[in-house]
Amino acid sequence: MSGLTLAQEAFSKAKQEHHKLAIEIRIHDDAYYQQDKPIVDDAKYDALRKRLLAIEAEFPELATKDSPSQNVGAKPSGKFGKITHVVPMLSLDNAFDEGDVRDFAARVRRFLSMDKDTPLAFTAEPKIDGLSASIRYENGELVSAATRGDGRIGEDITANIRTLKNVPHTLAGTNWPDVLEVRGEVYIGHDDFGAMNAAQEHAGKDAYKNPRNAAAGSLRQIDPSVTASRPLKFYAYAWGEISAPISDTQMGAVLKFQEWGFSVNDLMQVCSTAGQMISHYKMIEAKRSALGYDIDGVVYKVNDLALQERLGFVSRAPRWAIAHKFPAEKATTIIEDIDVQVGRTGALTPVARLKPVTVGGVVVSNATLHNEDEIKRLDVRIGDTVEIQRAGDVIPQVLRVLDADRAGRSAVFTLPKSCPICGADAVREVDDKGNRDVVRRCVNGLQCPAQAIESLKHFVSRRAYDIDGMGAKQIEAFYHKKLVLEPAHIFTLEARNDEIKLETWEGWGEQSAANLFAAINARRNIEFHRFLYGFGIRHVGHGNSNLIAKHYLSFDKFLAAMTSEGQEAARADLLSIDGIGEACVSALLGFLHAPQNMQVVNELLAEVKVIDAEVPSTDSPVAGKTVVFTGKLELFSRDEAKAKAQSLGAKVSGSVSKKTDYLVAGSGAGSKLKKAEALGVKVLSEAEWLVLIG
Ligand code: IVH
Repeated sequence: MSGLTLAQEAFSKAKQEHHKLAIEIRIHDDAYYQQDKPIVDDAKYDALRKRLLAIEAEFPELATKDSPSQNVGAKPSGKFGKITHVVPMLSLDNAFDEGDVRDFAARVRRFLSMDKDTPLAFTAEPKIDGLSASIRYENGELVSAATRGDGRIGEDITANIRTLKNVPHTLAGTNWPDVLEVRGEVYIGHDDFGAMNAAQEHAGKDAYKNPRNAAAGSLRQIDPSVTASRPLKFYAYAWGEISAPISDTQMGAVLKFQEWGFSVNDLMQVCSTAGQMISHYKMIEAKRSALGYDIDGVVYKVNDLALQERLGFVSRAPRWAIAHKFPAEKATTIIEDIDVQVGRTGALTPVARLKPVTVGGVVVSNATLHNEDEIKRLDVRIGDTVEIQRAGDVIPQVLRVLDADRAGRSAVFTLPKSCPICGADAVREVDDKGNRDVVRRCVNGLQCPAQAIESLKHFVSRRAYDIDGMGAKQIEAFYHKKLVLEPAHIFTLEARNDEIKLETWEGWGEQSAANLFAAINARRNIEFHRFLYGFGIRHVGHGNSNLIAKHYLSFDKFLAAMTSEGQEAARADLLSIDGIGEACVSALLGFLHAPQNMQVVNELLAEVKVIDAEVPSTDSPVAGKTVVFTGKLELFSRDEAKAKAQSLGAKVSGSVSKKTDYLVAGSGAGSKLKKAEALGVKVLSEAEWLVLIG
């Protein structure tokens, strides 16, 4: 007999079995995920993994980094491919109280020119707090799946989605369209989350913050066999591309999903009034803690799909749906310190460092205090006990001080009058009307390291250049080494790599460096709206950048219009774009007329080519034409008429000029009609306009 104790013997036996299992599982992973030729059926494979996990539960030291339980199998490609959503994946506007919900219902009626007696039904269903995914079926077979991404392009998570138990690989039932993209939410239930975190802790690893983060981490596993071991579920609630209509109503479509083998939420209901929507919300809110999964509100959708079609969407959200959010969760804690952060636009933001506290399942240790007026309003000081709130993924806020009359409070906190990063003046601007900005800003622009770094982070962010492998951490490292001080430098990194030798840096290797350069080069052709948004000009966000790109189509033409026609003409031209306001125009012109900014633009233009915005569909007779609506329209609301014109590629302007192609005049048209007549602009009645657009 050997001299081992019983415990040592048990461990040694377990270790041997674990080793054998690990090899076997890796072979199966490789056969399944790499060769696409599984050797064993799912039940046999699951049994192997289950045994491996049982051994690791008993002997956690065996759950080493290379165990299949952590990161199994032969490594797949290392990155997710991209999938373009033919039908964009939208997000939702929010309603925070009953008034917002009633406004939403009224807005829908107004848009549809529908009086209050005409029936109008809405569905109401829980808003699941997970991650959305789009799963594509062709001839009833699951062919691909993608994350939402930026709404237009998502990541290819087909292999991971295939591992979800309640997602059919082959559609059940009959009569599904040949092409069907089912959309819904991937989430983890409370019980499963508890078990998952217990296992994490058992293995000596950090617990997940909440079920949503655990779901996100699980779905974005490079190795699908890791995803397979996670308890992810899917609720179907929407669709993308479909080759044939599936129903006349939202409710009907979701019931079809159920017939075809998907899980749908049984708290979905059709409501015929705003009052019913609100009572359903209250019912769901009352059940919230017993549901077994996280929800953060209730989603209302117009039930009639023909009406949804007429309503369409505005920038990124449908007009026919809204999310009624639950009130933010609150907690009490102590302010241990107040720091000042400097943002991309130079704004000095006071941030409260808190004694860590759990709010709605998440540990919070920072909260924003917004600006100095807010600090004054709250009279908040270091050492105070405060009430804070956290709503969804928004930065937590301080709501009020709970012990304001306590004796011996610390001194009043004042924001510094100079930038804590670069030392330049930090001022509150006063506009032409004498209004003082609530925000104090560092005046040093891109000379301030904080602003430069935040601007670069914005430049590589998802809605701008979206460079894979270039995030906040990398930007900071490149900036501090003085290798990337402005956007153009990102594009010259590869050419300088003989000196930089990125592959020798800690955390980098040949492959990751090559991947980064490839990701950068892939962005040398950049869409107009991303190019513009990338500069991070105040008031020129994603939505406005899109509007501007669609209006001018080419960046060269835009720049020419901005710089050669004189400021007043440029201003008028920009303001004629529906949705572009004064603040955006002033910021944009201010940016383009500063020589140091134009130098940044030109240096970047030496590295990248700006792709023109898409020319509107030419089969519409109004594509590319500028249209103005005036007077009272009878058949459609003004908003619906405008939205329709835009969807046909027309530009809708608020004022008549010699660039106007059509003035559509309803009853009671006044000065715009006169001006159009004087300028010889073609004037159409509402009926003539309808004939024109067919
Ligand atoms: S409908 C065009 N329904 O909420 C409408 N979304 O804030 C598409 N979500 O990106 C969304 N539960 O990830 C819809 N029952 C539900 C939902 C839901 C959760 C998520 C979804 C969406 C986000 C928008």
